[in-house]
Amino acid sequence: MIEDLWYKNAIIYSLNLETYMDFNGDGVGDFEGLARRLDYLHALGVDTIWLAPFQPTPNRDNGYDIKDYFGVAPRYGSSGDFVEFMHRANKMGFKVIFDLVVNHTSDEHPWFQQSRSDKHSPQRDWYVWSKEKPANIHDGVVFPGVQKSTWTYDKKAKAYYFHRFYHFQPDLNMDNEDVRTEVRRIMGYWLQLGIAGFRIDALPFMIESKTPESKYEKHFEYLQDMRRFMQWRRGDAVFLGEANVLPKDTEKYFADGDGVHLMFNFYVNQHMFYTLATADIAPLITALNQTKSLPPTAQWAQFLRNHDELDLGRLTDEQRQKVFDKFGPDKNMQLYGRGIRRRLASMLGNHQQFKLAYSLMFSLPGTPVIYYGDEIGMGEDLSLEERAPVRTPMQWSDDYQAGFSTAKKLVLPVIEDGAYGYQHVNVEAQRRDPDSLLNWITALIRLRKECPEIGWGEWEIIDVHNNAVLCICYFWKGNSLLILHNFDEKQYEIQLKLANKKSGQLIDLHKNVTSNADENGVYKIIVEAYYYRWFRVGDLTHLLHRGKQ
Ligand code: GLC
Repeated sequence: MIEDLWYKNAIIYSLNLETYMDFNGDGVGDFEGLARRLDYLHALGVDTIWLAPFQPTPNRDNGYDIKDYFGVAPRYGSSGDFVEFMHRANKMGFKVIFDLVVNHTSDEHPWFQQSRSDKHSPQRDWYVWSKEKPANIHDGVVFPGVQKSTWTYDKKAKAYYFHRFYHFQPDLNMDNEDVRTEVRRIMGYWLQLGIAGFRIDALPFMIESKTPESKYEKHFEYLQDMRRFMQWRRGDAVFLGEANVLPKDTEKYFADGDGVHLMFNFYVNQHMFYTLATADIAPLITALNQTKSLPPTAQWAQFLRNHDELDLGRLTDEQRQKVFDKFGPDKNMQLYGRGIRRRLASMLGNHQQFKLAYSLMFSLPGTPVIYYGDEIGMGEDLSLEERAPVRTPMQWSDDYQAGFSTAKKLVLPVIEDGAYGYQHVNVEAQRRDPDSLLNWITALIRLRKECPEIGWGEWEIIDVHNNAVLCICYFWKGNSLLILHNFDEKQYEIQLKLANKKSGQLIDLHKNVTSNADENGVYKIIVEAYYYRWFRVGDLTHLLHRGKQ
């Protein structure tokens, strides 16, 4: 049954062990700490946990520089702690996925050490070497302003190696069959330990040939091979692709159901922020329609913020500037010339707009992904470098170190100043306050779970003749949803005519009210400033493919 596809209606919560909960008091979060917070996540209502990399690492890129794919970094606990955590999580019904970072390794990985030291070793060709200095070594950097080049000279090897990211992350050569075999071994190992799938890090880069002569050709067959292998080992495991690509290129990643199951919708993400900044829904509608067609088993992952900068690189210069002006006006808030290094709550600056953003993200076609700390409206620490401002420890209470740790020195400092300091923003205070963001998001998660139409159904944007009000309808098995979001600072009355007599009442899913059509079949709906209305309706299938925009 196609409805077995659990990821169609999952709620994903992403976190990094390092900054979530420190049990042993050494200043770094750990598996035991996270295990003790599973009750919290369960009560919140999320059902899938995405863990950032937790393998041994020099940790120069937040763990995305791995030096042993089969281990657990000692500061997070032992392999035994991992298995205990998995056991508890699975018992409580959680699925756990984590990052598969195989575009590159750490330069401390024994494969790279072998590769650079011995020309004749089997590992030599596992990385990408060039004896001559390649032309354009400054092209294609992912972190402009910080990363200088994509090729670096290695004295030991007497050659240049390719690195799409920082110089301490040499790229693996996926064209080498042994590397692909090793990737399967890594997946097999963790699947055997109960992992429900992988977020594939840097997916477009991972599948490409990496020399100028190869023209960086992409090999989607590598992804499909990985998928086949994973599915043999575990039928319900999934791939969640990190690929910030244009809508026209997404099809190949989903590969008719043979590629990734889920992919982050970066394109819609950036246009959501544009709409939040300008109250102009037109570009968002275009982005939604451009990413509409998917194989039946595929799904978008919708998100607002993640552990990286808010990348606005797909907007036009003018659009990006408008988002910068509104949400990241200071130079120090911007990064890599394309993004904003801030958290959602502080960026939007107002609880009603924050709720608007979350309600919108949860109402879009796809599976929602929450970034830890957003559920209580955490802010950022702009005194930290690069992407670190949004990676500070979870704020559990107003106790010492936000209840995250008892250590004096932490892996990253907790936020203690200003309105977003842990004294004001923390879980403990919010769980006792019925009007808190935490309780509001908990209710939103429950609502989303009660609306399976969003995960399964067909959808249509309905033109309500207002540039600031987005109306989306879902249709599934004779059930329909009609959801409105008003991005303007003004209240509007929307008039809707749903021709079908069977439509009947609109039942508001947030408030205990219903709307009836007048004698001409017109519904008049008030949407307050920065507000949202979610309705369940009778059967609206007749509206299908009739959207005007
Ligand atoms: C992905 C991660 C990012 C990391 C990069 C290199 O983009 O999200 O945090 O730096 O890959 O692994």
